[in-house]
Amino acid sequence: MNHHAHPQPELADSSAAPLMVPPLEAALALMEARRSVPLRTLAGPGPTPEEIERLMRLAARTPDHGRLIPWRFILIEGSARSELGDRLDALYARQNPDTAAGKCDMWRLYLERAPLTVVLVSRPDPAAKVPEWNQMLSAGAAGMALTIAASAMGFATQWLLKWPGRDPEAAALVGVKAGEKVAGFIHIGRPRLIAPDRPRPALADVVTRWSADQSMSNDTP
Ligand SMILES: Cc1cc2nc3c(=O)[nH]c(=O)nc-3n(C[C@H](O)[C@H](O)[C@H](O)COP(=O)(O)O)c2cc1C
Repeated sequence: MNHHAHPQPELADSSAAPLMVPPLEAALALMEARRSVPLRTLAGPGPTPEEIERLMRLAARTPDHGRLIPWRFILIEGSARSELGDRLDALYARQNPDTAAGKCDMWRLYLERAPLTVVLVSRPDPAAKVPEWNQMLSAGAAGMALTIAASAMGFATQWLLKWPGRDPEAAALVGVKAGEKVAGFIHIGRPRLIAPDRPRPALADVVTRWSADQSMSNDTP
């Protein structure tokens, strides 16, 4: 019996024996090896339309308090990359009239590097009973689900949040509406190389175990 692939019917009996589901080693190995690669090392071909649909379905399978769907995705691929890039460059030049001439196609080059960029948009509903913080965290979770799903499909990713996601005028060109905020540009492509891993946090720095004695202390990890 494996609930990874076969969801169990809802259990009415809370005293039923727990399912002892075996570990999915391939999934664990993927998460152990996954890392970002620098955007400049990404290349095509990008995901096929079927792969993109599957990717987005997996990204949307994300914890979401109150089922508010407080996020959405904008796909940038193909000729949309240079079309949007040109518009961003024009806006950037207008905002920065002293910019060096060599930078005039900076954002087009930026968007052309990866075959697919997914713009992750946070759209919390401030009127909802669910705290906005919970809604924003859900957007981050959707980004991580997308990143892991893309890795599992053989792609590499880099999650960046630069001027086009931060500047309100630029974000509007990307398609972001009032009340929405860009949580990241998740660039997806084939890795030309696997970058060396970066140092990972020492667990002692980030993991503590609650005990009654320590709960009054000010020591944070
Ligand atoms: C919301 C968010 C925004 C980021 N923006 C940038 C950025 O603008 N520039 C940058 O160099 N890295 C940025 N990063 C970090 C990169 O994604 C980095 O490659 C990543 O943290 C490497 O971790 P990984 O190997 O575990 O994927 C950002 C990360 C997150 C979560």
